[in-house]
Amino acid sequence: MANERGSWGSNIGFLLAAIGSAVGLGNIWGFPYKMGKSGGFTFLLIYLLLAVFVGFVIMMGELAMGRKTGKGTVGAYHALSKKFKWVGWLAVFSPFVIMSFYSVLGGYCIEYMALNLSNLAFAGAEIKTGSDLFGAMLTNPFGCVAFTLLFLIICYLINRGGVSGGIEKFNKVGMPALFVMLVIIIIRSLTLPGAMEGLKFMFVPGYAVKAGFIAAEPNFATVLATAGGQMFFSLSLAMGVMITYGSYLDKKEDLVKNSAVIVVADTVVATMAGIAVIPAAVANGIQNGIPLNEIKLGGPSLLFVTLQDVFQAMGTIGPLFGVIFYLLVLIAAISSAISLVEVVATFFMDRAAAKGQEGNRHRIVLLVCLAIMVEAALVAVDGLGSNGIWVPGQATFGIHGWNDCWLDFMDMMSEGIAMPLGALLMSIMVGWEIKPKTLLDEIHSGASSKIDGFFAFCIKFIVPLGMVLILLGQINDFFGLGIFG
Ligand code: PHE
Repeated sequence: MANERGSWGSNIGFLLAAIGSAVGLGNIWGFPYKMGKSGGFTFLLIYLLLAVFVGFVIMMGELAMGRKTGKGTVGAYHALSKKFKWVGWLAVFSPFVIMSFYSVLGGYCIEYMALNLSNLAFAGAEIKTGSDLFGAMLTNPFGCVAFTLLFLIICYLINRGGVSGGIEKFNKVGMPALFVMLVIIIIRSLTLPGAMEGLKFMFVPGYAVKAGFIAAEPNFATVLATAGGQMFFSLSLAMGVMITYGSYLDKKEDLVKNSAVIVVADTVVATMAGIAVIPAAVANGIQNGIPLNEIKLGGPSLLFVTLQDVFQAMGTIGPLFGVIFYLLVLIAAISSAISLVEVVATFFMDRAAAKGQEGNRHRIVLLVCLAIMVEAALVAVDGLGSNGIWVPGQATFGIHGWNDCWLDFMDMMSEGIAMPLGALLMSIMVGWEIKPKTLLDEIHSGASSKIDGFFAFCIKFIVPLGMVLILLGQINDFFGLGIFG
């Protein structure tokens, strides 16, 4: 059903777009390495429990908030509650901040894809190691800014096409393609000698410590906070995305089923990404005689150093896998980035509509992307702290972790604080102020499922408790406070 705001062309189109938002850099590198660092199997278990009792519930709640009000984040909170109306602002602020580093990372993917293409074209030419390449890239601010700009131009071109003509269209092609490429990389990864060690690291309880990947099992509270933060980021929750996407959804669609599909798909892809990435990195480390505890599985170096080395070690065919892999990551990054841009763009479109004007989508999307470019340029020039640029608070507090580089600082503000805080406030608003029934009425318009008791109980008790723990864990992590030992 079309209205002037636009709407999804079909339910499957909506689903692919929502899955596209969820599946992103968080799945492809965050999930595997956090799982590894947190002792593998325990992390997986906690992650799954949180996904069902917290993620799934908030997902349903956010989609219902959007569809009920027919508004983006700020509009939806405004329409639902007097006390909590300002929470909407938090969820416009965070996507904007996340884009400051997400687009830089997207730019790195384009650069690496181009690099592997040229390695493929000029086979036999001298090839640098992953860490030399990464270092050279980070210390070339002009290159990083240019590729960030390219990434944002791609987002602009998609978002200006609108909800069904741009976002949905891209995801309908991009998501199936991503899946096929992921399967190709998994097959290649698992057939490398030594890959089984990587698989065991992921799935055998206690193996990470036993085999010597990590020195000791991390404590339970840390794992809970890590898994919780990861789950939120990965499912694109508390960022206004699902409220915004829900606002374009038809009343007859089943929110319960849709939420379940999104959560399951995101978790499956995260696990698959782990299987594609970790065994390859471990196998390559073993072949080169690197001790297990020194194989770099964390952070940007996993994707841009360790894996690049893996592709280069594969000989002439390696760069081909490199191109496939970085294209896959790029598609994942684009499909998430366009959802973040859409949150901010929808906010301005709704505002124009509230004033009785017709928002010009092209112009609004252009301005949003330009504003993102300004903040992203800072993160790009900073080059993960390689270029000696000042970061707020560094000298003042002398604490390391959240302020080592601009990327960490932006991440701390958005993923670290705004996201769990937003989700906590949302659950208090729904559970205790407007009451679960308000959203359940909306959910019932397309679903007859017997979900009421579960939804009400979780949103009133489990979600707020979980969010407080996650928030504490994030603050502890970013500020290195050592609350959990
Ligand atoms: N879910 C995306 C990922 O896993 C990131 C994201 C977060 C996108 C929040 C939109 C909103 O990388």
